[in-house]
Amino acid sequence: MCGIVGYCGPRATPEVLLQGLKRLEYRGYDSAGVCVAHHGKLQVVKRVGKLRELTLALDHSLPGSYGIGHTRWATHGGITETNAHPHLDRTGKIALVHNGIIENYETLRARLENKGYRFQSETDTEVIVQLISDFYQGDLEDAVRQTLSLLKGTYGLAILHADHPDIIIAARNGSPLVIGVGEGEMFLGSDVAAMVAYTRQVIYMEDGDIAVIDRQGYRLTNSFDRKVDKKIETISYQLEEIEKGAYPHFMLKEIHEQVHSIPRAYQGRIDHENATAKLGGLNMKSQQLLHIDRVKIIAAGTSWHAGMVGAYLLESLARIPAQVELSSEVRYRNPIIEKNCLYFAVSQSGETADTLFAMRELQRKGATVLGIVNAVGSTIARESNGGVYIHSGPEIAVASTKAFTSQVTVFYLLALMFARLRHLSWPEGKKFIAELESVPGKLSLALEQEAHIQALAKKYAAYKDFLFLGRGINFPVALEGALKLKEISYIHAEGFSAAEIKHGPIALINPETPSLFLVPNDSLRDKVVSNINEVKGRGGPVIAVCEDGDTEVMRLADDVITVPSVSEFFTPLVMVVPLQLFSYYCALELGRDVDQPRNLAKSVTVE
Ligand code: M6R
Repeated sequence: MCGIVGYCGPRATPEVLLQGLKRLEYRGYDSAGVCVAHHGKLQVVKRVGKLRELTLALDHSLPGSYGIGHTRWATHGGITETNAHPHLDRTGKIALVHNGIIENYETLRARLENKGYRFQSETDTEVIVQLISDFYQGDLEDAVRQTLSLLKGTYGLAILHADHPDIIIAARNGSPLVIGVGEGEMFLGSDVAAMVAYTRQVIYMEDGDIAVIDRQGYRLTNSFDRKVDKKIETISYQLEEIEKGAYPHFMLKEIHEQVHSIPRAYQGRIDHENATAKLGGLNMKSQQLLHIDRVKIIAAGTSWHAGMVGAYLLESLARIPAQVELSSEVRYRNPIIEKNCLYFAVSQSGETADTLFAMRELQRKGATVLGIVNAVGSTIARESNGGVYIHSGPEIAVASTKAFTSQVTVFYLLALMFARLRHLSWPEGKKFIAELESVPGKLSLALEQEAHIQALAKKYAAYKDFLFLGRGINFPVALEGALKLKEISYIHAEGFSAAEIKHGPIALINPETPSLFLVPNDSLRDKVVSNINEVKGRGGPVIAVCEDGDTEVMRLADDVITVPSVSEFFTPLVMVVPLQLFSYYCALELGRDVDQPRNLAKSVTVE
């Protein structure tokens, strides 16, 4: 995954690089490093561990007005200072940072070793810098081009050369890179967050682009060395959105933000007069939408769970056959593209490699793929055939929370739109809209349970295994609850359909394995209550999330978290919030690094 930054300009370069890396630490936090060029010399500082280690080690007043930096999520080679970026060539004059994976690095490395090159690290990255060195005959850009022509895999690169201390070369193929344009200064980053404190004017690089950047500007060419003209875009989000403010963690901030982020996903998109949704970004007319016979959704992780809720809504409300599949499985399954089938790629970051590559494969076969994406300008957003931004604002915590509820909200709009095109009456459409618009208020009530949930987390955090059980539209929410708990607290948790436990998982039930049941007052409630009885009968502790006033469940369960009553379709939005808080407080109780859990990164740009 990894994050890349670059800077040239009059500010204190180490400070700008560290600030940028701080904003990109969500992309990886195994190690970090910077290189600053000054008077024909490269100064490299690297440290293993979180960015604070580098911040402590680095002389913040290091002179030099050109620099590059990197925060690493290790792929090739262990988490060591030698494997940390920037990497230097054998002359020590070229420094390079890389995000991505070079698939043919072993062949390239062997070729260089035969020529007498000795490698310092175990990384795939080091072959790139040594190759540039091998090709270099005074023209850095030319050496970079020759090197890129040999690489197989993905890369976002930033390169410095001691003898060209007035330029940074950047190249992109499959890993995001953004150029920031300032006055007399230029920035580079894997994401606009790296530069938003300094400039709002950005250029999104495309695959194949190579940029030569200096203080005055940039020259962008493609892999055929032809000039590329790109429009400078203005980024809209505010600095506060990527800061914790008064919250101790981004995750808690983002859980609370849902009261506002859900409305942002539907505001301006509801046509009250016609009781439907208007989604111009789909780039499809009503007549075209009417011809859609089937919907397929591809996604990973939490976005996959949101897609499962979406498929349920599209089938139940709009009566369109809908399927959801893990994007990692789609690409290599040689998928069959059906006629009149519309695809949706769901991704918070818009950079998830599994989803991006699956989308490209589907498009290559002629499918129309629409994006449901949060990160504006991200690769999936740009390469999809249209789509809907979820507008939840930057999500920084590795554990996805507000993006999930906003993705689900977009599916409410899609289901409403398709349903109104087909069979749903005007009054039914009106009722659905009123229910959707009442959710944020209900979410505030759900958040009032926070102190109680914190107390429950204290009671349960020492357990080693958990089951999360739900049915129907809340089955994916059970999966999401289990994912949240395991990823940030490292407690083993599995999600199942409550009906499914009797087919195997019930064997796990004992007094040491709590089950967290989702029990909305819906058409399947009584069946779930029977499942609670089955677990209780076998000595398993039960926590139930149920509607306020459900006395039967309150009596049965060992502990209860109540949520306000909403109609069946909208229960995932109120059910998921207590699960997010429960995971958060369990992780806190266990002293985990909530926002940056071990082994993970926010944006998963490797397959
Ligand atoms: O950016 P995306 O939505 O495509 O990311 C997909 C998953 O990597 C992501 O949801 C992951 O599962 C989260 N860490 C879950 O909290």
